Amino acid sequence: MNIARFPEGFVWGVSTSAFQIEGGTAADGRGPSIWDAFAGGPADACDHYHRYRDDVRLMKDLGMAAYRFSVSWPRILPEGAGKVNAAGLDFYQRLVDALLEAGITPYATLYHWDLPQALEERGGWPSRDTARCFADYAAIVADRLGDRVGTWFTVNEPWVAAFVGHGSGVHAPGRRSAADAFRAAHHLLLAHGLGAQALRAAGAAEVGAVLNFSPVLTPAQVGDFDRPLSEEDAEAVARIDALVHRQFLDPMLRGAYPADLLPVIEEHAGLGHVHDGDLADIAQPLDLLGVNYYAPAVVQAQPGEPADPAYPGSAGVLFSTIPTAVTAMGWPIVPNALSLLLRRLSREYPGLELMVTENGADFVDTVTPDGIHDVDRVHFVEEHLRALRSSVEEGANVRGYLVWTLLDNLEWADGYRRKFGLVHVDFDTQRRRPKDSALWYRDVIRRNGLTEAPPRRPTLETVAARARVSRATVSRVVNGEASVSPEVRSTVLQAVKELGYVPNAAARSLVTRRTDTVALVLSVPRHAADPMVPAVVQYVTSLLEGAGKQITLMLADTAESHRRIVRHAEARLVDGVVLLPPERGDTLAERLSRTGVPLVLLGRPPVSSLVPYVDADNAAGAAAATEHLLATGRRRIGVICGPMDLVATQDRLAGHRAAMERAGLRVRPAIGDLTRASGTAAAGQLLGDAPDLDAIFAADDRMAIGALLAARAAGRRVPDDLAIVGFDDIDAASATTPALTTVRVPVTEQALALARLLLSRLEGRSTTPVVLPTRLVVRESA
Ligand code: FCB
Repeated sequence: MNIARFPEGFVWGVSTSAFQIEGGTAADGRGPSIWDAFAGGPADACDHYHRYRDDVRLMKDLGMAAYRFSVSWPRILPEGAGKVNAAGLDFYQRLVDALLEAGITPYATLYHWDLPQALEERGGWPSRDTARCFADYAAIVADRLGDRVGTWFTVNEPWVAAFVGHGSGVHAPGRRSAADAFRAAHHLLLAHGLGAQALRAAGAAEVGAVLNFSPVLTPAQVGDFDRPLSEEDAEAVARIDALVHRQFLDPMLRGAYPADLLPVIEEHAGLGHVHDGDLADIAQPLDLLGVNYYAPAVVQAQPGEPADPAYPGSAGVLFSTIPTAVTAMGWPIVPNALSLLLRRLSREYPGLELMVTENGADFVDTVTPDGIHDVDRVHFVEEHLRALRSSVEEGANVRGYLVWTLLDNLEWADGYRRKFGLVHVDFDTQRRRPKDSALWYRDVIRRNGLTEAPPRRPTLETVAARARVSRATVSRVVNGEASVSPEVRSTVLQAVKELGYVPNAAARSLVTRRTDTVALVLSVPRHAADPMVPAVVQYVTSLLEGAGKQITLMLADTAESHRRIVRHAEARLVDGVVLLPPERGDTLAERLSRTGVPLVLLGRPPVSSLVPYVDADNAAGAAAATEHLLATGRRRIGVICGPMDLVATQDRLAGHRAAMERAGLRVRPAIGDLTRASGTAAAGQLLGDAPDLDAIFAADDRMAIGALLAARAAGRRVPDDLAIVGFDDIDAASATTPALTTVRVPVTEQALALARLLLSRLEGRSTTPVVLPTRLVVRESA
């Protein structure tokens, strides 16, 4: 076997964090953290606090050479400062001793987001004092563990802690203030610098920090990193790169904030919080930079785009979705961006040693009696390791690689539904079960390399040949049929094990009639022309494939095709059906639901039924668009509706109507058929009927673009004489002159919700509809 080897001494391991696995939140004097408060109650997580010995043994069995864990600040200092809780220090000493005894090198992170709640109440990270408290805490921990732990990381992903915690408020402490976010970022940097000094003073051998990296790319660059950029796109990319990366890299490694970021900080937070001497304190010599990489950030310039609260100063930058495979988080899978990143860091910060301290993926796992065959996770890690290796060959200085993460755990605001572990955890029993990815990783570590060509997957035939039985016999054994003798069964299972055979859909379905196939049914032609549909299809497919399903795309365009689809479901050739948008008078959803095959719909069904669906909040979106027109002084507003047999059209009209009625105004409707030409015609008609019309709301962007053309033809200036708002935010909307104000529907979130809904249905859980909020994107046309 040819092996793609890693450098000798390459460090292999896993990463975890205290809050996500420990539990024991009230044990032995631990104080509350901001995450206890945010999560609204104690979290048992993986109960690692009581089971750490088992977990260390598990890591030893898997051959891990290194383990990065985090120390829980409120376990050491329940009040954040002052009185030390000796029991907390004892716990980490026991953990580290167990690791050392198992031959595993500890890498300790001091801050992985669990700030003591007491410090939050005194101002938290936006307050300078928190950085000083951190330095004291660092000294206390290093004093106790410095003889056992060689490598220390001060903070983990300060961008996330500052901007997701204080900007968008999605993470604890849940604040939404750009000023707080920038101040928190500075104080996290200062904490790093003061903490690094405290660690050195306590004799720490190595000091580093861990940052999150999302190489910033335009959609076109995802497939071609060298693609030249327009000036506008280059500016958008640089702005996000400064916020997420250089805001932390440059102070730490160069002793200065990036020049292009300073005005942004000043605009949002002033610069009063940056004291003389801070940058010198922050720029401590760094032995190792921890690189966390999951996915790129995909952006492009888009005039009028409002700033994302997690990225203050990002106005005019659109965070885009791209048609690539995604994990269950919806994160695009772009392994080569890891080598791009490692090469960049080595080039721009020469001499710096790097370590990939987090990389891994959330996929929907299926637990089967013979294990958890998480092929997608294996594939994800393998591809990223290949990318890492190629950057090393090109000279990047990378010490090692740590998978995120050892155990399925508590994924912050997302709770327990995310599965990043190499090891499955049953949260009812706390039973740990290594997934295939754990065993595969153990082999990678053992040989310090990857097998050159991914091994060909053994098939039913290979197993049959090895066990000297027929295909049908293998299939029966795999499906747990009782008709096979115990001897034959054990021979077959032995062959399955030796070959690492993962039963495929065909093998399973032969007997169980479970096909693991899902039909994606598209109504055409109308919906095929809808620019949203290909994106939804792409994402739903990738997510369901990630969950081990095969996808059959079926087109519902004729009465005969409807019959065929229903027969397909009746014959149980599919386990589930996703039906894209239903129309009024369309009985397909109804007929499919009667087959008993789990069914979910994209779009609210025309008649209320028990079939669960995912939809954007069309009515609220239309109301927001109308209210925007009203708030800017428009009173004579026409509305261009789509075909009235579409449920989305009805909902958008209803939202518009409600807003107009609240303002005591009358509705002036015209109908289009979702095409540009129909929008031109409808707008022409509205303007002909009411020459003093001052605004048009079109329930679809293509019709809105048609309305822009009609306005121009009628000599009306947009927006001065006539304001125009669309719906859907299709790509072309930002490219019109003037750029179109519109309502954006959350395409990827809809796809994610749809995939999740179907998976819950397949597991037999009852589900309720999901209605996702839309967002008004104000550009120039209104
Ligand atoms: C990183 C965090 C880690 C985990 C992974 C999925 O941003 O450092 O705790 O949540 O993402």
